[in-house]
Amino acid sequence: MTAIRPEISSWIEESVLPRYDAFDKGHRRDHAQYVIGTALELSGHYDVDKEMIAVAAACHDLGLSVCRETHHLESGRIIRELTELRKWFSHGQIEIIAQAAEDHRASSQSEPRTIYGKIIAEADRQIIPDVVIRRTIQYGLKNYPEMDKEGHWQRTVEHLEQKYADGGYLRLWIPESSNAARLEELRRTIRDKAALRAVFEAVYKAEIYKDLLPKAKAILEGEDDMIAGMANLSALLHQAFHFWWTGFYRVSGKQLILGPFQGPLACTRIPYGRGVCGTAWARKEAIVVPDVEQFPGHIACSSESRSEIVVPVWKDEEIIAVLDIDSEKLGTFDETDREFLEETVTYL
Ligand SMILES: [Fe+2]
Ligand SMILES: [Fe+2]
Repeated sequence: MTAIRPEISSWIEESVLPRYDAFDKGHRRDHAQYVIGTALELSGHYDVDKEMIAVAAACHDLGLSVCRETHHLESGRIIRELTELRKWFSHGQIEIIAQAAEDHRASSQSEPRTIYGKIIAEADRQIIPDVVIRRTIQYGLKNYPEMDKEGHWQRTVEHLEQKYADGGYLRLWIPESSNAARLEELRRTIRDKAALRAVFEAVYKAEIYKDLLPKAKAILEGEDDMIAGMANLSALLHQAFHFWWTGFYRVSGKQLILGPFQGPLACTRIPYGRGVCGTAWARKEAIVVPDVEQFPGHIACSSESRSEIVVPVWKDEEIIAVLDIDSEKLGTFDETDREFLEETVTYL
């Protein structure tokens, strides 16, 4: 087994991988690294040049800098223009590397022309069920920002079915790859719509929060008036998730007093230790309530509220307020909400 020359490895590290930093979330540096690792692994089953495999894998998506639709062809063009490669490879080898990049698209109906193309195409399939589903959702959020959650759900199902379900257009080229078994696992999830919906919900939520955190930071930075900050933060969260009620209660003596909020009328004062808000304040920790009926001492501000999360807002080692979010559905909140909301309120 030939090792990869150090100068080729460092050229990939220093000159190729950084180019991926500018691409969409599904095609960042970690994607290129995954394809390089998997392609090298698959190449162990064949009599191929490992350096050509590494370079083809490293460069296979560089064409994304030009156009997503034709990026495989652009990658081929870019590879042919890379003068560095001429130091290490013959004209014929560079041609094979370029063709391997051109042939890597899953939607291509024709078989990759060489074993190099087949290995790169196979390595490019990140058939890790969770990753496939997450990338599908990320792509939708990025490219269809006007679409609502149900729209994204439908788009996710359609894409997964067209590409990965039985009879989908994805084709596997290397029987030795572990993709075959994982594809079967993904197909089971695609068939089980309840299971798929659960994965969708979790991923969708985390993606919305990830998008929202920097926005919250930018809006709250430089505003030291707490009420103004709370007002904007409740609006930001409410609009992103369409919760039933999103707002703040401020600590005042031994009670909480209603602060800025979005949603219907609310209780104005909550005693220390009472209800979910007063309990979170007393326990000095966030509380996730999947079903408010089951929470002892729950204060019903509205009969519409079915589940709730309360997150304390700290200032100088003291709780000065709580963020309270209510949902009209059961079990809306989980650890993901707690984690992101705790982070968000530190920006106040
Ligand atoms: Fe690609
Ligand atoms: Fe790729």
